[in-house]
Amino acid sequence: MKAPDIPSTSAGSGVESLVTGGAGFIGSHLVERLLERGDRVTVVDDLSTGRRSNLERAMGMSGGRLRFLESSVAGAVEALSPDARFDEIYHLAAAVGVRLVVEDPIGSIETNVGQTAAILRFAHERRAPGASPRLLIASSSEVYGKSGNTPFGEDDDVVYGPTTVSRWSYALSKAIDEHLALAYHAAGGLAVVVVRFFNTVGPRQVGDYGMVLPRFVLAALRGDDLEVHGDGEQVRCFCDVRDVVGVLPRLLAEKACVGRVFNLGSDRPISILGLADLVIRTLGSRSRVRRVPYTEAYGPGFEDLRRRVPDLSRIRAAVGFEAGLSIEDTIRSMAVSMQADGVPECGS
Ligand SMILES: NC(=O)c1ccc[n+]([C@@H]2O[C@H](COP(=O)([O-])OP(=O)(O)OC[C@H]3O[C@@H](n4cnc5c(N)ncnc54)[C@H](O)[C@@H]3O)[C@@H](O)[C@H]2O)c1
Repeated sequence: MKAPDIPSTSAGSGVESLVTGGAGFIGSHLVERLLERGDRVTVVDDLSTGRRSNLERAMGMSGGRLRFLESSVAGAVEALSPDARFDEIYHLAAAVGVRLVVEDPIGSIETNVGQTAAILRFAHERRAPGASPRLLIASSSEVYGKSGNTPFGEDDDVVYGPTTVSRWSYALSKAIDEHLALAYHAAGGLAVVVVRFFNTVGPRQVGDYGMVLPRFVLAALRGDDLEVHGDGEQVRCFCDVRDVVGVLPRLLAEKACVGRVFNLGSDRPISILGLADLVIRTLGSRSRVRRVPYTEAYGPGFEDLRRRVPDLSRIRAAVGFEAGLSIEDTIRSMAVSMQADGVPECGS
């Protein structure tokens, strides 16, 4: 496969950006943000969980500044011409979601480790004095494992279950990605920033791979039961994707962020049971809550985390991050987006 060129345009930021996983949920919102800034953007995505339709809005606003390569990351870096240069690389491609990882541990581990290794090697080989790519690696709050700390600080110890429980392979694969990225920075001077996303939510997220909020919003719109796994007292913090993607280019622009790890998300906790009630109230749905044991949802031996709250002091100090949108705002926009895709109104 030979990668097609992006036509040159005189307008714009002059920044060449590459977004892996750009047809996914977070990636497609980031692509729009980069196009708004005036970048020329290359998206690499194998469409394993992403959708071409996620990029429709971006295509419409791009004025020819967006090119899409349907490929694995490893395949795309082979196909790009040797003189292809990027100022910023956002590596979001991954096998995402606890259900996906539990169902396909081999594919998930190979994707999460192999594709990250490929993009780091690509960026490393393209280092040049004064013109090296800056690279953001998407990691996850899962990296903290089942540590009992609250809130989670970036330098805290991590605690995992045994390797016989496949759910921990996602955390471990993301932790290896972080080690590899930081090692490239330490050994080769690669400008990397590692970002641990906490629960990110918003329009275009799908519930097929175990994500809780899209599952709840969809069920509430259909009038179906909202299935809460376990006792529902587990606590999470949800941050709107539009707040999240706004801060990513700022993290890459700030020299002091290079070689560091950042938590990113909201630090406003809510229990899953509380979230289910909020979805029902916000959408005026007739749905009810139904508790489902973990063994039924994920099979025997599944371990969940009781409380997942980030310490955001590092990212606040570095780039002044604050989440602006409330969960109710997010729930309403997810409902609007699902209805536009053909899901019925509440109660209809
Ligand atoms: N959404 C969250 O709450 C959350 C939380 C923690 C971490 N993250 C991280 O953020 C990133 C984006 O996640 P998302 O929620 O947008 O998920 P997503 O599944 O919507 O996006 C991942 C994208 O990567 C693509 N992809 C997967 N394997 C690929 C490969 N081998 N080559 C090329 N493309 C490939 C998929 O098709 C998809 O478009 C991931 O790295 C994920 O681990 C997300």
